[in-house]
Amino acid sequence: MDTIVEMKHITKRFPGIIANNDVSFSLRKGEIHALLGENGAGKSTLMSILFGMYQADEGEIYIRGKPVHIANPYTATKLGIGMVHQHFKLVHNLTVTENIILGMEPRKSFGRIDMASAQKNIEALSTRYGLAVDPSAKIEDITVGMQQRVEILKMLYRNADILIFDEPTAVLTPQEISELMHIMRRLIEEGKSIILITHKLKEIKMAADRCTILRRGAVIGTVQVADTSEEQMAEMMVGRTVSFKVPKKPSEPTDIILKIRNLCVKNNKQLLAIKNLNLDVKRGEIFCVAGIDGNGQSELIEALTGLRKIESGTIELNGKQIQSAPIRERTLTGLGHIPEDRHKYGLVLDFNMAENMILQTYFNEPLSKHGILNAEAIHRHSQDLMEQFDVRSSLGALSIGRSLSGGNQQKAIIAREIYRSPQLLIAAQPTRGLDIGAIEYIHRCLVAERDKGHAILLFSLEMEEVLNLADTIAVIYEGEIAGIVNADTTNENELGLMMSGSQKGVVPDYE
Ligand SMILES: Nc1ncnc2c1ncn2[C@@H]1O[C@H](COP(=O)(O)OP(=O)(O)O)[C@@H](O)[C@H]1O
Ligand SMILES: [Mg+2]
Repeated sequence: MDTIVEMKHITKRFPGIIANNDVSFSLRKGEIHALLGENGAGKSTLMSILFGMYQADEGEIYIRGKPVHIANPYTATKLGIGMVHQHFKLVHNLTVTENIILGMEPRKSFGRIDMASAQKNIEALSTRYGLAVDPSAKIEDITVGMQQRVEILKMLYRNADILIFDEPTAVLTPQEISELMHIMRRLIEEGKSIILITHKLKEIKMAADRCTILRRGAVIGTVQVADTSEEQMAEMMVGRTVSFKVPKKPSEPTDIILKIRNLCVKNNKQLLAIKNLNLDVKRGEIFCVAGIDGNGQSELIEALTGLRKIESGTIELNGKQIQSAPIRERTLTGLGHIPEDRHKYGLVLDFNMAENMILQTYFNEPLSKHGILNAEAIHRHSQDLMEQFDVRSSLGALSIGRSLSGGNQQKAIIAREIYRSPQLLIAAQPTRGLDIGAIEYIHRCLVAERDKGHAILLFSLEMEEVLNLADTIAVIYEGEIAGIVNADTTNENELGLMMSGSQKGVVPDYE
């Protein structure tokens, strides 16, 4: 088999950290090569070097046998390299079509953009690879899953044949994941080669030919996937054995902390996304809202946290109606939030971590006194939190939010929210994009919160997480609760039927 990409002895330093330490990596033509490693292991950095976004401090790159200097993504594109980034790089107020053709617009007379031909080209690609998109929709109005399909189309539109997928499945539903696997196989059949970054060992087992494991910037090894078990790969990745099961005792739910009655919420298209929804969440339980992406979960989360106006109904937290309360009041009433979109709502990316860790608490002593911030106390507080939750960054509390790897940004948000120990913690996709070591840790933290008598309202698209972590599961389908079940007595099959709308379960009567 021909080697299409060869990276030799790549070293990349950032202030205070060696992100890639003498890394050698090769991709053969027609293979899917997985890149596995903990959050912050250096995977995205390595791929950003290949895509020309960063320059290596040392090392060489050969593409199709020839030494190359990849000065920028434009050069990478010309070399046939395409990348779907971990955090999408789409322009939110442009349409799907405009994003795909950005910088490559087909022209007609007088330099006008030939939208019709662009549209046709995109439609052809989207049918050929089964990538359903709404070409005229604005990015800000479409789901994360569709945004990703736009990113893939963008790469195909540029005729890339070396395809880098940086954690593509972290944001997808199980159905979308199997579709993506199908798409990737089709891409391989058409002569493309793929580098796949994922934390999910099952996906590596399912899709990849070889797997290279990175730990703290260095290569631990490259294995043939068929000859290596999930446990072996996990151990190479974290350097210790990992447990795949969440240890927890049966829940002991007490009184109701969150009471939702007749809630109606509209989506961005002004259609009802949540329809007369009722729910009770009790202290001492992990209550999970499960469902296929786009069935109203985001709108429900936004309504609860104050990010979206409701149409009608009531939300009672801790005995207090909060449906029209400002966000700070909800926070002070006992609400915590690990948001689905960590960049939009979780962190202020241009603030440093010290500032990010005190967003809801800066007005409290000792962080400030008489309205004046105490820089030293803030720094110490954040540094402690980051150490306690193993948030890795180059400059500790002084690191800018943007510079942390995705997984470490997520860990930082979780640290901040759990530290406040809110009575109700809304956790939306809390482990999305995290490595198994970190997932194990976060799950333990959430269970510990529960055992303190707090409630966790979990939103997860991950069937395994739902079944493993939740005590009670409410399935949401088209903005309504299709059924509520006990996590111990249900199974993947029953949930799947309710999630797809083919079966209704039991819903209690609410007064
Ligand atoms: N632009 C940057 N500036 C400073 N540090 C960075 C930057 N990008 C990444 N890092 C650091 O380099 C390390 C590797 O990050 P990354 O490649 O994103 O990890 P992974 O993708 O494996 O999770 C992390 O410690 C991260 O904080
Ligand atoms: Mg990454």
